[in-house]
Amino acid sequence: MNEQQIALGAKYLQQGRLVAFPTETVYGLGANAFDAAAVNRIFLAKGRPADNPLIVHIADYATLPQVASHVPAQAERLMQAFWPGPLSIVLPKSERIPTVVTAGLDTVAVRWPNHPVAAALIRQAGLPVAAPSANRSGRPSPTLAEHVAEDLGDKVDLILDAGMAAIGLESTVIDVSSGEPTLLRPGAVTVEDLEQILGPIKVANAHPSPDQPVRSPGLKYTHYAPRAPLYLYLGEPKAVVQAQLQSLSELKSEGKNVGILTYDEYRDQFPAANVFSLGCYTQPAEAAQRLYQLLRRFDEQEVDIILAHGYPSTAGLRLALQNRLVRAAGFRLLWV
Ligand code: TXA
Ligand code: MG
Repeated sequence: MNEQQIALGAKYLQQGRLVAFPTETVYGLGANAFDAAAVNRIFLAKGRPADNPLIVHIADYATLPQVASHVPAQAERLMQAFWPGPLSIVLPKSERIPTVVTAGLDTVAVRWPNHPVAAALIRQAGLPVAAPSANRSGRPSPTLAEHVAEDLGDKVDLILDAGMAAIGLESTVIDVSSGEPTLLRPGAVTVEDLEQILGPIKVANAHPSPDQPVRSPGLKYTHYAPRAPLYLYLGEPKAVVQAQLQSLSELKSEGKNVGILTYDEYRDQFPAANVFSLGCYTQPAEAAQRLYQLLRRFDEQEVDIILAHGYPSTAGLRLALQNRLVRAAGFRLLWV
């Protein structure tokens, strides 16, 4: 990554063009958050439903009053604790942010990413940057610049490549606009982290189901989906591996090309083909970094079906991981 490319990206943002850029979570597809026409192009490029609002990215506190009309005390404490970082905070929106950004809501999600390229780009542009994850709508979020090129190709004017995203899952989203802090999307800033600052918080729809009310519009869409149906096995590791092996042999006898998602500890129990490891079972950070890349690998291998190993409990980062696995599964869950 060189300085000239960042400068070009900043110029493009000022001109209303689209720039894909790295963050510590996933790659974003950025546009000038004040420019409704530019933001519309994000929705077109992604094929994103218009009622799913975007996160606005900043890289200093001076820009915040241009984005949010008011910063509640709880939000201020979260910013001090977790910014720059993987936390998006839903705030009352300022009038300068066009309604296309927030899908008509009177709130706006704001994040200060912890990545030097993102920060340099936003500062040089001198603008808040509206940016969803830089995938085609419904595909796994991009953790590599190659994923962006694969999904969006020439729909994006520039891709800034800084290698693999460190975290690999999208930011935590919390709503503090109503007085009752509510987690809308779990991420690398965990419930436990947030509760250290705020005390008990409400966890909305971490595993959403169709009959639960939707507070974050994005929650109602099946995101992160690989092309083949993914079944998520939940339970103690030994039982999960046994169940995966059983299903594998049945599906193979039907002539199916089966993908397995497992961990280093269990990998040897499966035949080699199309078996991908999320890393060490006890290291959820590794699994988070690899998950989306592996979902894309299954697509490349053109598997017919994926059998994935989930977690029996969801403390810490595992809440975010399980949340994305459940969505990738489209709620095809098997408790063993
Ligand atoms: O890590 C991330 O958050 C990445 C990087 C690029 O920053 N961005 C990202 O954006 O994941 P996106 O658009 O894929 O997800 C944004 C989520 C959606 O679930 C959306 O519904 C929710 O944030 N959201 C945005 N604005 C909101 C608002 N005003 N109220 C409630 N939810 C909101
Ligand atoms: Mg997304």
